[in-house]
Amino acid sequence: QELQMNLEQIEKGGYDHFMLKEIYEQPSVIKDTYRGRLHANEGIVQMAGVEDNLEKFLNAKRILVVACGTSWHAGLVAEYIFEEFTRIPVEVEYASEFRYRNPIINKDDIVIAISQSGETADTMAAIKLAKENGAFVFGVCNVVGSSISRESHAGAYTHAGPEIGVASTKAFTTQITVLTMIALRLGKAKGTLSNSDFHAYLQELELIPEKVAEALETNDRAKEIAAAFKDAPNCLYLGRGYNFPVALEGALKLKEISYIHAEGYPAAEMKHGPIALIDEHMPVIVIAPKQGHYDKIVSNIQEIKSRSGKIIAVVTKGDTQVRELADYVIEIPETSDALSPLITTIPLQLLSYYIAVMRGCNVDQPRNLAKSVTVE
Ligand code: AGP
Repeated sequence: QELQMNLEQIEKGGYDHFMLKEIYEQPSVIKDTYRGRLHANEGIVQMAGVEDNLEKFLNAKRILVVACGTSWHAGLVAEYIFEEFTRIPVEVEYASEFRYRNPIINKDDIVIAISQSGETADTMAAIKLAKENGAFVFGVCNVVGSSISRESHAGAYTHAGPEIGVASTKAFTTQITVLTMIALRLGKAKGTLSNSDFHAYLQELELIPEKVAEALETNDRAKEIAAAFKDAPNCLYLGRGYNFPVALEGALKLKEISYIHAEGYPAAEMKHGPIALIDEHMPVIVIAPKQGHYDKIVSNIQEIKSRSGKIIAVVTKGDTQVRELADYVIEIPETSDALSPLITTIPLQLLSYYIAVMRGCNVDQPRNLAKSVTVE
């Protein structure tokens, strides 16, 4: 028993849970995702799976993303990034819906299947359907040699290392990292991304690991806020643009490990009904970095405040305007709008982790959940 306990501790690297270990591994595993692919100073970003199929990617009329859960959220971030950098239309589909709705799949479609485990049944079924209809399937997986990686025509591994915690964390950020590198490569090749922007993004990507490490320093702040909201019956997460998918992901994290009902929304959507939910008992997490619709999200925060909502805001270091309005702020380093999800998601991972721990939940193996949903 003692040996078993010690082995577990060694595996957890001294962290209380695999999830916390994996949250803290993100700076180093994002560097692993870059290895051999990102050479910012030389202005090079390349992955074999993309280079070998570059013509297909450049001639694609549309990119379909099929995924589930957190991987679907990474796909949503990719939609914003791909459309911004490459001007190729992107549609993100829940794999479980895609496989049954008799979707339109064209031969010159590129299907990107995102799956940490590479074993998710719905995503596998979506891939098979796409292949039957002549589409090219590119897999973004973490587990080398997994079924989905083998079923795809080509792909790129995230190289995040084993993700044991059921709640996906480092898989999410490394998926976004891979997808961002692909979008940069294609944007440069298509000329839809200026040379100067291309080089600026490569340089900024190099700095992301240290900015993630800086965002991890919000750990104690997240713990403090968790103590204040651990008994909330509900929670709302709001974001705009690139951070709308991060709001969805933050809500999923909280739901699946703390069992608190949470919902992510595009911030502007609140006035179409959900704002009726706001009162002094409703914590609202607002992702409000300086880059990206800042003024509009400040007015969304004011709307919530005027209805006595409790506001927890993720802001860029040094922010003063939101600080005046929010009950709590979590400060993160500044990034460009497009790369901000890699940073804004960090405090949300920590917040959900600490709330779950304080509620005595089984963080690494939440009730009713499996790490890989290999059944329908
Ligand atoms: C995310 O925290 C969950 N564990 C779950 O939604 C997961 O993202 C989903 O089941 C997809 O898994 P996959 O990436 O292994 O395909």
